[in-house]
Amino acid sequence: MGWTTLALAKGRTAKATIKLLKKANINFPDFHEKTRKLIFYDEQQKIKMLFVKAVDVTTYVSTGAADIGIVGKDNILESEADVYEMLDLKIGKCQFVIASLKLDSLDDLNQLTVATKYTNVAKRYFAKKDIAIETIKLNGSVELAPLIGMSDVILDIVETGTTLKENGLTVLETIENISTRLIVNQASFATKTEPIQTIIQQLQRVLEA
Ligand code: PRP
Repeated sequence: MGWTTLALAKGRTAKATIKLLKKANINFPDFHEKTRKLIFYDEQQKIKMLFVKAVDVTTYVSTGAADIGIVGKDNILESEADVYEMLDLKIGKCQFVIASLKLDSLDDLNQLTVATKYTNVAKRYFAKKDIAIETIKLNGSVELAPLIGMSDVILDIVETGTTLKENGLTVLETIENISTRLIVNQASFATKTEPIQTIIQQLQRVLEA
């Protein structure tokens, strides 16, 4: 049997993901929180793990560089990648929201400036609402934009709400619930069905326990 390649998102959900994989009997012995290594191996199950930036996971999976990926739904929606989403791992739970400093609602608006890391999500969301937007792409600290008059609203993920609160922003609309998902490359699912199904079933058992 050959190796199955897994692209795993670095960042806030990495620790919980590794813990979940361990419970599912998938182990990367060399992994530790502060590691700078980029490839890890589960020799028993023949899984090669690529430890990559969350925004890049869908690229590894859609190009076939990885057979499967573990990443937040936020990044999946933004990437618009053609991959199979197979499992909700129920970790990294947060929400996509629209928040603002000055506005009370989006009603009766037909034009807005939106600061966000997720410009594709923003374009789709506001197109549905028939509101014309200008997007400002930021890579972090998005909450700053309305405070300095750079944008009317932000579209971002909210977990505890602390960042919004500490910056005086309020939620106008909640778009969607986000959590960590397992995605699969479409060709890999056809050619490596058995090892991929085994990984999914192992995780499913833990999630249902
Ligand atoms: C994310 C997100 C919010 C914050 C929400 O940013 O973009 O800013 O977390 O979390 P909270 O509701 O628990 O406060 P991240 O920490 O990834 O940093 P960034 O600002 O550099 O994107």
